[in-house]
Amino acid sequence: MRDGYNRCIDYLRISVTDRCNFRCAYCMPPDGVKLLDHADILAYEEILYLIRVFNKYGVNKIRLTGGEPLVRKGIVDFIRAISSLGIIDDLSLTTNGSLLADMAEDLKAAGLHRVNVSLDTVDPERFRRITGSASLERTLAGIEKAIAVGLHPVKINVVLTSAFMDSDLSYFVEMVYRYPIAVRFIEYMPIGYNGTGPGMTPAEVKNRLNGAGLGMLEPAAGSIGNGPAKYFRLPGAKGLFGFITPLTEHFCRACNRMRLTADGKLRPCLLANRELDLKTLLRAGASEQQVGEVFRQALSEKPAGHNLAAGQPSFQRKMSQIGG
Ligand code: GTP
Ligand code: 5AD
Ligand code: SF4
Repeated sequence: MRDGYNRCIDYLRISVTDRCNFRCAYCMPPDGVKLLDHADILAYEEILYLIRVFNKYGVNKIRLTGGEPLVRKGIVDFIRAISSLGIIDDLSLTTNGSLLADMAEDLKAAGLHRVNVSLDTVDPERFRRITGSASLERTLAGIEKAIAVGLHPVKINVVLTSAFMDSDLSYFVEMVYRYPIAVRFIEYMPIGYNGTGPGMTPAEVKNRLNGAGLGMLEPAAGSIGNGPAKYFRLPGAKGLFGFITPLTEHFCRACNRMRLTADGKLRPCLLANRELDLKTLLRAGASEQQVGEVFRQALSEKPAGHNLAAGQPSFQRKMSQIGG
């Protein structure tokens, strides 16, 4: 369905948990955030019901997020249940990769199409500083496994913080020559808690790639995925580089998404506080039509775009509570 700005909204990002086994410096304060009570988190059956209703309003792409979605019990069976509905064309998941090596095969068998893995640096010490975790090796193994089992295309999300260095860039260059993956550099969004400074800008990364003696980046034909990344290819590389620039070149005009939080709030925009409560309605026995009305209402309230460049508004939720 179209929103008030004639954008087709067919993609829902569903946060299945606010819990995470990492503490990324830009996402959560070091002492964490107040976690939701279990009773406030939507049951899988409730989410499945919402997916079926939203599909009638045109949602056919779903991304599972967190916190870290793979820490929620029963996630593989939940993915199988979504897949069995037979109504979702693109079923994906964004993960920190720490549990992926063990789960990738089951995820693929359950019907997950693809994964995006967060990896901001490949230096163990800087990785620990950014994520609060010592499990870099597990994330690297998770990426390899996801590629091996065909959760294709695997995308690596690199948020450009002060932890990102030239040595990381060299590593990712090697990766895109070796594998048909996409490495995406993401402009750091100063929202909520800001435990790390921004690093190189996407333009600086582009200049370095163009100056590396490997030839010039060429815009990649067609688009992969449903997101805001712009893709480029270095001559002879199997994979792509992507750039996501929410600040310097925002993509709100082409926005195609809404979000469902783990506690059942429908959030029209990542960068606006407004949320519409579906959990209370569901638990009061709402009809499909009533749920659909909330979806329509959220569409009509979806803002034209964000205004982060003009200053940081105050956010009631941290990234870990929204799912990025
Ligand atoms: P693909 O379909 O694979 O392209 O997914 P995606 O890029 O939409 O999803 P992913 O979860 O990998 O997010 C990549 C980056 O884009 C993260 O830093 C997100 O926070 C950011 N992002 C995703 N959606 C939005 C959005 O609507 N607005 C803004 N400003 N940033 C977003
Ligand atoms: N700025 C940019 N990207 C962010 N992410 C989390 N917080 C931020 C931020 N402040 C990214 C994560 C993950 C995705 C869901 O969002 O690294 O890849
Ligand atoms: Fe966890 Fe993702 Fe937030 Fe990192 S960005 S703390 S991996 S939810």
